[in-house]
Amino acid sequence: MRTIWWDEKSRAIGMIDQTLLPERLENIEVRSVEQLCEAIQSLRVRGAPALGAAGGYGVALTAARSAATDPAALLDDIKTAAGVIRAARPTAVNLSWGVDRAVKAVEEMRGSATVEEIRAAALAEAELIAEEDVSINKALGDRGASLLADGDVVLTHCNAGRLACVGWGTALGVIRSAVAQGKRISVYACETRPLFQGSRLTAWELTEDNIPVTLICDNMAGMAMRQGLVDKVIVGADRITKDAVFNKIGTYSIAVLAKAHGVPFYVAAPISTFDLERSEKDVEIEERDADEIRRLGNKKLAPADVKVYNPAFDATPLDLVSAIITERGIYRPPEEMPDLG
Ligand code: MRU
Repeated sequence: MRTIWWDEKSRAIGMIDQTLLPERLENIEVRSVEQLCEAIQSLRVRGAPALGAAGGYGVALTAARSAATDPAALLDDIKTAAGVIRAARPTAVNLSWGVDRAVKAVEEMRGSATVEEIRAAALAEAELIAEEDVSINKALGDRGASLLADGDVVLTHCNAGRLACVGWGTALGVIRSAVAQGKRISVYACETRPLFQGSRLTAWELTEDNIPVTLICDNMAGMAMRQGLVDKVIVGADRITKDAVFNKIGTYSIAVLAKAHGVPFYVAAPISTFDLERSEKDVEIEERDADEIRRLGNKKLAPADVKVYNPAFDATPLDLVSAIITERGIYRPPEEMPDLG
């Protein structure tokens, strides 16, 4: 089952609405760029690789639904929509990567293609991004599985599973690959305040796959490590710069704890998540609505007007990272990083 796909009959993007899990597994149809941006901002679709696919499909959607009748006008429409989609969430580099890849595929046709050819090319590139995501995650998972031993207990944070990708997953992909090789792996999932991707999504995915999972609150990770309950940490990434790994808020604290307790801290991410031209200071960290912390649905968790700091991601310096697992290989930063040239 995929997280995001193209529905040719309704000329729309289909996706699992992740805000409804684990109560309901329901799909939605996205028929406009506005609707796509809303879905991205409200985390109906989320996770760096899934956002890459959403970016590609957003370009295909624009191409399919634009009223433009000549190729130059269609390409201008695509360019405008691309800017809007790219800006929907700033931290995960995969969103702009997916948009840019699909835009490049059609821009190369400027002056030499019909409207229909541009539409077909945009969709073909978006489908390729989505298909590649699954095969890349499986390759990454197989490489990463070599780092896990039979019986290992792995702590993870947020959701870097198949829901965060088109399929299979990155951090959970490594665990799935190890399990597929016959290793007995169990997982500690941090609930991941404030939006609970760990409890709502990771615990759900692993339960569906019959992989043993124990749910903990984020502030229990240190105790679990001190008690020797955790053999390894594996998390995903939203962007990897030349000096840091950006991932869900709380990742940095777990990396510090892992270092203090001698627990290997692994990051699993496709090459598309690397942004080695930039450093930590160049990256915008998304800050989200205060009510995500002050409220839980209709329930008040804090005084209505209390001041809140709600960054959605944090940066973990590379010297806290034992290894980065990619589809190309396993790198030991800061000395070893992939050559993107
Ligand atoms: O805010 P989210 O849910 O999009 O954050 C997702 C994460 O931080 C994931 O760990 C990351 O995107 C890697 S997903 C393979």
